[in-house]
Amino acid sequence: MPAIAVKPGIYWIGVNDRTTDLFEGLWPISHEGVSYNSYLVLDEKKALIDMAAGHHATGLLEQIQDLVEPTELDYIVVNHMEPDHTGALVLLRSLAPQAELVVSAKAKAMMSDFYGITEGLRVVNDGDTLSLGSHTLSFYMAPFVHWPETMVTYAPEQKVLFSCDAFGGYGAMRGDIFDDQHADLDYYIQESLRYYVNIVARFSGPVLRAIDKLKDVEIEVVAPSHGLLWRRDPGQIIELYRQWATYASEAPKPGVTLVYGSMYGNTERMMNAVAEGVTQAGVPLAVFDAARTHPSYILPALWTQSGVIVGAPTYEVSLFPPVAQAIETAVHKRIMNRKAAYFGSYGWSKGALRGLEQLTEPLKWEWLDTLEFAGATTKENLHQGEAFGERFAQNLLQGQ
Ligand code: FEO
Repeated sequence: MPAIAVKPGIYWIGVNDRTTDLFEGLWPISHEGVSYNSYLVLDEKKALIDMAAGHHATGLLEQIQDLVEPTELDYIVVNHMEPDHTGALVLLRSLAPQAELVVSAKAKAMMSDFYGITEGLRVVNDGDTLSLGSHTLSFYMAPFVHWPETMVTYAPEQKVLFSCDAFGGYGAMRGDIFDDQHADLDYYIQESLRYYVNIVARFSGPVLRAIDKLKDVEIEVVAPSHGLLWRRDPGQIIELYRQWATYASEAPKPGVTLVYGSMYGNTERMMNAVAEGVTQAGVPLAVFDAARTHPSYILPALWTQSGVIVGAPTYEVSLFPPVAQAIETAVHKRIMNRKAAYFGSYGWSKGALRGLEQLTEPLKWEWLDTLEFAGATTKENLHQGEAFGERFAQNLLQGQ
């Protein structure tokens, strides 16, 4: 995509990545893709803000050269050191050795660790400014959003916030870059939520502190380094991030995430009965087959809903492994203080429930109910399953 003007003198020069299957080597994006948004601010002095992954360095270079030669760059602002934004630095540094790298104090050490760069660094602190002519860049430290060295950059005259990972999302650009150009904004919001829970959620406290720090900053465009730019309603994505961050410490809305696995269909048949019960109570329900759904797609539901029902058979005296993997990811992301229930079948030994309780112990989930059954489903235990689901859902409604 060619460069796109964000404001006078400020250009988006990002690149789309539609070939990486796993973001961070972990999170699937093969269908959605991702963008690495870079920005050029062209004035008496010229600044590049954030870059791209190393395997897209030549694409970024072409974008830069559409507007300016690398030898004309005065500054490269590095809001965040993670290589999806700095991988291209290896090439750019060789073509623009004159450009000063504008970094936070913590990024200075990391610049040496990652790229062996120790010279040509300009360290900035909270509130520092850099005049480019009629454009100014102001820097706000945003530690642990989501690495310790992260900062955001603000252009006060044009009221543009270059927020890097903050307020970002998955989803490659589809020929345009702004929120007001998309009829299906819900897709990008859902992918922003998935990105938030996958990448940022563990650091929700720092996210809230960063949002609070920026509360008096007048913002006309939120320009993150992944996903859409928000200019029709820049407060929308900030408010969404604030809301998502609160779910780390406050109960989210009533809703059930039903994560299940089944070897021969018995636990799946029970899942359908449990789901019927939940739905009859009028509570939103999201159902995931853990053996066929990457945890990346399950985490957003777990993060934003107050109840979890786990359905899994006992497998070799413990929890069915695909379900265990999904729950382990929830443990890593610290999805705390949910209400929970378990159901599942067993053959020659129980063990799934014990394995599940051990696994989730750090999350302090409140276990409300269990329904274990030997072998196959029956008319009778399916009725029990339906009542189990309805009872759990009603408990969620009563607790809101
Ligand atoms: Fe988009 Fe934390 O890097």
